[in-house]
Amino acid sequence: MSPHTRTTRTARATLSLAVVAVSLTALSTVATPPAAAMVPPGVIGATTAPMGWNSWYFFNNDYTSQNIADEAAGLAAPNANLPLNGSGDHESMADLGYKNVGMDGGWWTNGSAGRDANGNIVPNTGFLSGYRTKSVTLSNGTTVPSVTLNSMSDLTGYIHSLGLNAGIYTDTGTSGCGGANGSGNHEAADVTTFATWGFDWAKVDHCGGVASAYSSTMADYQAWGSLLAGAKTAGGVSHPMALEICEWGQGDPDNPSVWGASAGRTWRTGRDITLANGYGTPSNGGSSWINFDNVQNNFLLNDHPSNEATGQYNDPDYLLVGPGFGANPTTGQQQSSGGTLYGLTPDEQQSYFGMWAIQGAPLVLSTDVANLTPAIAGIIGNPAVIGVDQDSANHQAQKVLTNGAVQVWSKQLATSGSRAVLLLNTGTSATTYSFTTQGLDLLGSPSVQNLYSGAGLGTLSQSGSLSFTLAAHQSVMLKLTGGTEQKPETVLAAGASGLNQKSWNGSSWSAWQSLSLGVAGSTGPGSIQGDPAVVSSPSGTDVFVRGGDNALWEDSYTNGAWGAWTSLGGTLSAGPAAASLGQDRIDVFVRGTDGALYQKTYQQVPDSGAANSPNVAWTADWTNLGGPNTTSPGTFTGTPAAVASLNRVDVFVRGNDNALWQKSYVSGTWTDWTSLGGTLTSSPAAASAGPGQLDVFAAQTGGTVGELNWTAGGGWTSNWYNLGSQVIVGAPTAAEVTGRANVYARGTDNSLWQWYRIGAGPSGSWQKLDSTQTLTSSPAASVHI
Ligand code: GLA
Repeated sequence: MSPHTRTTRTARATLSLAVVAVSLTALSTVATPPAAAMVPPGVIGATTAPMGWNSWYFFNNDYTSQNIADEAAGLAAPNANLPLNGSGDHESMADLGYKNVGMDGGWWTNGSAGRDANGNIVPNTGFLSGYRTKSVTLSNGTTVPSVTLNSMSDLTGYIHSLGLNAGIYTDTGTSGCGGANGSGNHEAADVTTFATWGFDWAKVDHCGGVASAYSSTMADYQAWGSLLAGAKTAGGVSHPMALEICEWGQGDPDNPSVWGASAGRTWRTGRDITLANGYGTPSNGGSSWINFDNVQNNFLLNDHPSNEATGQYNDPDYLLVGPGFGANPTTGQQQSSGGTLYGLTPDEQQSYFGMWAIQGAPLVLSTDVANLTPAIAGIIGNPAVIGVDQDSANHQAQKVLTNGAVQVWSKQLATSGSRAVLLLNTGTSATTYSFTTQGLDLLGSPSVQNLYSGAGLGTLSQSGSLSFTLAAHQSVMLKLTGGTEQKPETVLAAGASGLNQKSWNGSSWSAWQSLSLGVAGSTGPGSIQGDPAVVSSPSGTDVFVRGGDNALWEDSYTNGAWGAWTSLGGTLSAGPAAASLGQDRIDVFVRGTDGALYQKTYQQVPDSGAANSPNVAWTADWTNLGGPNTTSPGTFTGTPAAVASLNRVDVFVRGNDNALWQKSYVSGTWTDWTSLGGTLTSSPAAASAGPGQLDVFAAQTGGTVGELNWTAGGGWTSNWYNLGSQVIVGAPTAAEVTGRANVYARGTDNSLWQWYRIGAGPSGSWQKLDSTQTLTSSPAASVHI
């Protein structure tokens, strides 16, 4: 893990697992594994993160339908500052992807009762008072005529005729932000109203929801997601709408970064980006607007790579990139109407845009897009940077290393062997950085291009470097293409002298290397009881063991070296299991002294409010997950297995009936224990080759290894597949990447053996991988993701 996050993992006082008083959940069996997280319907953001414009920071609560129509026209009209299209005409912002026009709070909040005598939600008095839209000739030559805005349908009709989508805003509560109205108790009727008006999605805020103390924010938003997905107009015509979740992710564990994908298309991960400064617009008397600390804070709070996927996006809030409330026409610096500089410098605006793009975040401008300056058009109109945001694989960037003030963020792109990289100077003075392929997991000599300038920078070999001088808060975005994907792999096993590591660098295996165990109970586990667990996340590899003191111990391998052992406490009765959903989440599972399963999680924690505060830490307590219901309370045998794949963590154990048992964490909740049958003679191992795929391995009668497979579409295979005649000692371990499954085990000769399968399988073969070390435990393996 990176030094930044490492410091937040503190040793916890030893805790007896057996005395944690958490009641077991009902242990009924479930016939089929839970389905993958639902992707809500609605066209907005179905394939890549939504792009567009939102009214909030530019207009606050003070705007009319005319203002919305004018900004929509600004998006749709060809702009002389934007690139040319194939016909030699200037493109529009919409041509570049900014197609969504969102009305925020204010359309019904200002000087209005909010509802008519029949309880129907209505716009402000004066919101639609006879305004006329602009006539716009689009870049394809079509002219959209001027219309009069007499109704909400006129407004959405005009937005649609520009080729854009229209979004509306409400609140979960009976009241909303600043005491405005909300949709609480009117949810279904308001959704029908929005559908009848022709809106394509709804942003649903949570100001009133907080005040109303809903018992579960997740359940509330899941209900909203279903209502919007199933929306019909008053005439009964189906009109599905997407949901933009505006709950700010501060209420952990009830945090949309955990469950957002089960309810909506996008979910906020932090407070309003200007909040530390007040809203600060001239319209509400603020004297400041935004600074770069706000930008960096929301960027870090949005660092949830495990949740980002096609149709589901972390949302760090809107982009205050652009002229806003006046910009110096020469420098592009944001300024107040009186000319005082108070916003972001051009470099900061460029970095802000680059940070959102490398995260695959919604690119929603909340500035005056109808009046772009050339400098700003060069930032937000850069098709190559937009292309990084909109890459079809929809991965979120991972921070791969920090060097002084420079952070290196890497985003895996859809094309194999390519990366987008953001080099960000977070400091307030200029610095020079020597960029290498370190941390990118990319072999070969990829070609490098500077996406801000378009300049080609040649190729970068494994030993080469490229030097960049970055001014204060400046960044550069690079695109590397033509490399080869590297999938480093680590295998760990105990030997007579302690813990040994052997690693695959993408082309060859290292020799065994010894990892010191420290002094029992003080600087390390001293000795290892049972089998180790290892898990890799984007910023490093973590090993967990049951120490000589029965506590859980952790050590991290980052940038080529092991750190110090840390005790995570507890009293274990078997070796641990670990799984990581990304650098923002590691789960460890252990068997307590009462024989039940316990969980401890390294995860995002509520924002302390301080700028750039560490936002990831281990939970202090253990969660009791019970055990299979062959006994009461449920217990199991041996070591658990754990595997993380998109949106889910699955744990497997060998029950006291020797059957395989599963418990799954999906969309923020745990299922009950389910029996998958079979007769295991060892603890299980589990791995995933990709979303919606699980493979479980365990020794069978006679000591050979069997495999059971699950896919989201097809469920579990009914029979165990036998991997061949190799007899193993103890439990197997598994590590998988797309197209390849690796199983490792301790052979009867106490050497390390490997079974692997390339492609769909199921056939594969065993080989002795190394005989230079006599293993005293089963191995543990992980692939660097
Ligand atoms: C909250 C939200 C903002 C905006 C305002 C409107 O602060 O987080 O995005 O919608 O409400 O009042």
